[in-house]
Amino acid sequence: MKNLDRIRDFTFKEDDVVVVSFPKTGTTWLQEIIYCILHGVDESLSQSLEDRFPYLEFIYPGLDSIQRMEGQRLIKTHLPYSLLPQEDILKKNVKIFYIMRNPKDVAVSYYHFVRMMTISNYSGSFDNFFEDFMSDKVPFGPIWKHYQEMWDHKNDQNILILFYEDLQKDINGSIRKIAGFLNRNLTEKEIGEIANHCSFDNMSQNPNVNYQHWDALGIRKSSEAKFMRKGQVGDWKNYFNAEMSHSMDLWIENNFRDISVSFAYEN
Ligand code: A3P
Repeated sequence: MKNLDRIRDFTFKEDDVVVVSFPKTGTTWLQEIIYCILHGVDESLSQSLEDRFPYLEFIYPGLDSIQRMEGQRLIKTHLPYSLLPQEDILKKNVKIFYIMRNPKDVAVSYYHFVRMMTISNYSGSFDNFFEDFMSDKVPFGPIWKHYQEMWDHKNDQNILILFYEDLQKDINGSIRKIAGFLNRNLTEKEIGEIANHCSFDNMSQNPNVNYQHWDALGIRKSSEAKFMRKGQVGDWKNYFNAEMSHSMDLWIENNFRDISVSFAYEN
């Protein structure tokens, strides 16, 4: 709570770039793409993403250290927009990227994540987690409210909303769009290099982004899925039965009614 109060008082800088997302929507992928657009692929290999693109509300590296960072800051947060200092963000025209993913794949990815993290140590079945997800018992939830809060600002000129499924469908076009929002002109060669560096296979092998150091810190149970787990659209079909799919469809219809997007559930 104390931390949230401090975040409300956090001072942004005009050239900060912020990735805001509900967990498991493709945050890490988007962060690495943004970093590479701004600094190049080679520079990305010098440090862990956690240091290059710190997580606002997490204990590491911590608010004080983010506040002291020099130069252009790249910041990640899972907090819903209402908990961020919106006035400061608007006043300074801070660039915000928000990524959405279809809620069924998010639920499956989140399930593996909470099983994997020793901090949550979830041992329930997917069916149990599905109920928790739908009854808003997961951190940063409910997802529809998180999405809605940013969707309400979709026309703000400092906000760009992206979709995980679009990145999957057209990575080069997505990189071009993200670069455009950052006022960067990339050559086709540079776009190709970033797309290759940020492919699922390459990110899975890259210790600077795959969070494998969590194993040594005891944060992750290595017997569970990896952070870079499957990276696919439509994995939900391996977890949902027809009844679950139908009940989530109704839940989405009821709760996402003010977000005029139709999510893509398969490639
Ligand atoms: P899965 O668990 O479905 O595999 P976040 O970074 O918001 O926590 O999201 C993690 C999800 O994004 C995981 O989904 C992860 O595999 C996927 N992801 C990360 N990098 C990716 C990439 N380069 N291509 C496709 N999916 C990626």
